[in-house]
Amino acid sequence: MEHSDLDLEARGLQITRRGLLRVSVVLRKMTHGDLDRVLEIENSAFSTPWSRSAFEAELRDDSKAHYLVACKGEDVIGYIGGWFIFDEAHITNIAVDVRYRGQGVGKQLLSGFIDYCKGRSIKRMTLEVRKSNHVAIGLYEKHGFRTLGVRRGYYVDTREDALLMWKEL
Ligand SMILES: CC(C)(COP(=O)(O)OP(=O)(O)OC[C@H]1O[C@@H](n2cnc3c(N)ncnc32)[C@H](O)[C@@H]1OP(=O)(O)O)[C@@H](O)C(=O)NCCC(=O)NCCS
Repeated sequence: MEHSDLDLEARGLQITRRGLLRVSVVLRKMTHGDLDRVLEIENSAFSTPWSRSAFEAELRDDSKAHYLVACKGEDVIGYIGGWFIFDEAHITNIAVDVRYRGQGVGKQLLSGFIDYCKGRSIKRMTLEVRKSNHVAIGLYEKHGFRTLGVRRGYYVDTREDALLMWKEL
């Protein structure tokens, strides 16, 4: 450990495995007022981003759709969410503002959403991820997701395969 790391620890700060300072975020439910920032992040994170009306429809259907945002101060810097179907939660999207990636925000979002699901009688969680998205796959595996199968040519833009991942709570 470097001397400077010790100084940081003494001040309650942590360095991530990528050598960056860990950013602490507060999670809360997504609201319509968050959508400008959510769309900025969504548009820079995905090749086939969701539209504003898609998010608006999700926020209207709060029996099925559950979305959280990660806030640093007032600013939304990431989000996660998905659908509750009986006792199963299907994660539809997770993304972090590119300026804050590798600083532990994805981990806080995913573990926060897992806790949110556990508190609502969800028994298992599923998601699909592009086979080439090693960053996201690493994040999911660290939180106990395992690959259950492959959906061939699942993504319409590139016909890339999706891994179907699964976690029992
Ligand atoms: C996937 C994503 C949400 C991860 O968020 P993040 O805040 O960067 O992730 P964290 O800093 O919390 O890191 C969590 C884990 O992800 C993996 N990871 C993060 N950055 C990585 C990198 N540059 N290289 C390899 N693995 C990486 C590691 O497993 C890491 O755990 P570790 O720090 O113990 O090694 C973010 O990269 C993102 O928004 N990507 C674009 C959208 C996307 O692909 N979403 C997933 C759709 S299925």
